[in-house]
Amino acid sequence: MVPDSSGQAASGYGARSGWSREHAGRIERTTDNTAPIFYPPATEQAPDVHVWDTWLLRDRDGTIAEVDGYRVAFSLTAPADLLPGKRHDVATIRYFYSTNGQTWHNGGPVFEEPLGQRTWAGSALYDDGEIYVFYTAAGEQGADELTYTQRIVGASGGRAVTTDGFRIEGPWTHHELIRPDGERYEREDQSRGMIYTFRDPWFFEDPATGETYLLFEANTPVPEGSDTCGGDAAQQAFNGSVGLAHSPTGDPLDWEPQDPLLDSVCVNQELERPHVVHRDGRYYLFVSSHMHTFAPGLAGYDALYGFVADSLRGEYVPLNDSGLVATNPANAPFQAYSWMAFPHREEVLVQSFFNYYDFDADSLDLVSELSEDEQMRRFGGTLGPTLRLSVEGTRTKILGTLDHWEIPLPDEDLPPTDRELFRRTGDSGRESYHGSGT
Ligand code: FRU
Repeated sequence: MVPDSSGQAASGYGARSGWSREHAGRIERTTDNTAPIFYPPATEQAPDVHVWDTWLLRDRDGTIAEVDGYRVAFSLTAPADLLPGKRHDVATIRYFYSTNGQTWHNGGPVFEEPLGQRTWAGSALYDDGEIYVFYTAAGEQGADELTYTQRIVGASGGRAVTTDGFRIEGPWTHHELIRPDGERYEREDQSRGMIYTFRDPWFFEDPATGETYLLFEANTPVPEGSDTCGGDAAQQAFNGSVGLAHSPTGDPLDWEPQDPLLDSVCVNQELERPHVVHRDGRYYLFVSSHMHTFAPGLAGYDALYGFVADSLRGEYVPLNDSGLVATNPANAPFQAYSWMAFPHREEVLVQSFFNYYDFDADSLDLVSELSEDEQMRRFGGTLGPTLRLSVEGTRTKILGTLDHWEIPLPDEDLPPTDRELFRRTGDSGRESYHGSGT
């Protein structure tokens, strides 16, 4: 148990730790967890493509890699003239590079022939000069129609070439790493839920043990007729989990699935893009989830949720009692999604993509009722402003924002936070803080 924890760990269903209905029942917007309104960026960094889920090239220990002065981001992308809702069907991983963490250049698609019908998220490792990209192969190659099977893949053989600008070159070899076994991790044909998941691999080296892991988003199978949550079949269909695989040798292409770290049976269907930030000897496990993926009887938001434990396997205690760490303001509930947290000095920074702004509805599904022009107009399709977070024990607090696409390296100074500025000028008003924009 986390030493100074005031929160309560709950047991999972197939995992050691769980996100319980009691925890999730406490989700509520506060000044500490609500981001200010975001506005579109002054300059569009990648005008030709929609950009959403993004991850950084990192060293084995999780530090943002610096390759001859360049930092590198990988993103899911699709042509900018595509209706945003269709982008998942053609998602392609592109890379972006930057020398200052503010201006980014589009390097183009990473792969010529990845596995799957389309490629979903994602993490990347820079190891001894070699680039590994872990991704989700969604859909079966060769099928006429789009399919929703998901496999976790590792691509090896990438190199950065920095003579004459920056580029990433192969030849890549694509290795299928993990498929769901149907026991720890649900297969698509077992799914009773709304959106099946087995995706989003995240490389993590445990600094306490030096052991190498891959986290991923999955679902825990709950047999039909089980008495879990009082036998409520409608609730049981919501069974998101954070999966875990271990590499016995440290080889980034050799994985053995283990029990999930955490699950949310009867709570939420999608624990997306799970990742860990190690801080003060603790393990902060973050996931993104949606308003519409909470089980019946629960109300949550599109938000970054988090849990903390004193070892990688837990027990995990939900942050801020409910798990809610950062969400969008009530009048722009879908302005950002797919948060990715990374440590920066005393803070944790949180990058996300700019999703549907100027859209205040009860569900993201209602986007499809807008005209196509309006769907295009209201979709950000670029990276959002980076959030600044303080993280102490089981408590977190949004301190302010950086710019869209701003990714500082660990040794780079940051300006005073919005909250520090307000303290200095004597203005502590909540309205002003929330009106500060980007
Ligand atoms: C989150 C997500 C990921 C998935 C991707 C597909 O934004 O659902 O879990 O890899 O989008 O586009």
